[in-house]
Amino acid sequence: MTAMADRLLHAMARSAPHRYGGEAVSELEHALQCGDLARDAGADEELQLACLLHDVGRYAVDQSLVSDTTEPTRAAPSARGHHEVGAELLAPWAPERVVWCVRMHADAKRYLCATEPEYFARLSPASRHTLELQGGVMSPGDALRFAEHRWLRDALALRRWDDQSKVVGKKTRSLEDWAPVIQRWLRS
Ligand SMILES: [Fe+2]
Repeated sequence: MTAMADRLLHAMARSAPHRYGGEAVSELEHALQCGDLARDAGADEELQLACLLHDVGRYAVDQSLVSDTTEPTRAAPSARGHHEVGAELLAPWAPERVVWCVRMHADAKRYLCATEPEYFARLSPASRHTLELQGGVMSPGDALRFAEHRWLRDALALRRWDDQSKVVGKKTRSLEDWAPVIQRWLRS
């Protein structure tokens, strides 16, 4: 077990009592559900890992430093969104594609809101609130640029699984089941 893998597993275990944003599931349940959806859909392990860890910036970092998980008055003026904070936490340890998918999971929502009206209509109230904190619906020019990225499909897949990972009481694999995957892909 690498030191970083161990620290991440501990941070995830500690997230179990915390609610996921304004949703009815915990941070840990949300992460496990998202990882499960990716694995059950046949995603490769890198994408599974990105799904499992996509919200690491919400629970592995002091939330008074994160701009879209606290009230604006409490966050430091220079605070960044949880997607950026999480990506930077993982960057020295995780594959580039995992880090990119984590960094882009807010932009993937902004992109889907710009390109699929029915996607915006289905967003939960909490997710609509954070959309504004994350920059709102993506501009047409930015959406065209985003669409050209080689990992666009991964970012959108993660985002759709993320949105579906709010099911109260859903049975999932355990955190222990994910330990080998985290260990395999994180550098020590
Ligand atoms: Fe999420």
